[in-house]
Amino acid sequence: MQAVYKDLMDAARKAAANFYAPYSNFAVGSAVLSSSGKVYIGTNVENASYGLTNCAERSALFNAFSHGERKIEAVAIWSKNPEIFPCGACRQVILELAPDADIIINGREDKLIVLNVSDLMPFAFDKTNLK
Ligand code: THU
Repeated sequence: MQAVYKDLMDAARKAAANFYAPYSNFAVGSAVLSSSGKVYIGTNVENASYGLTNCAERSALFNAFSHGERKIEAVAIWSKNPEIFPCGACRQVILELAPDADIIINGREDKLIVLNVSDLMPFAFDKTNLK
């Protein structure tokens, strides 16, 4: 799995090249692996109305879902700084769209950090609470 995740991180790194962040100038890329074996990428897309910014992880997940994917195996997140973890909004979206996925972060010395959603979102509000 480590080799697959390295390739996924590489796809996330490449996706970051298309970042649109004229306000923060901070590039983030994400690559999502679906159960069909396909990879969907996303980058951060900012807006002059700052709160409308879409993070790389959400772009990648929305891309996968827009292609009809419904089961996500892994979500890789890349930025030039190691140990960039998803923001709160992205955690909530990962919980909704990729609850069983491994979340792959680039750590120090090129090591990959593999987390699951419950590491990122303990005591979360999700669809089971609506029953
Ligand atoms: N950003 C992401 O794309 N993903 C993260 O996990 C953290 C933050 C983006 C949003 C914004 O465009 C820039 O990084 C600075 O916050």
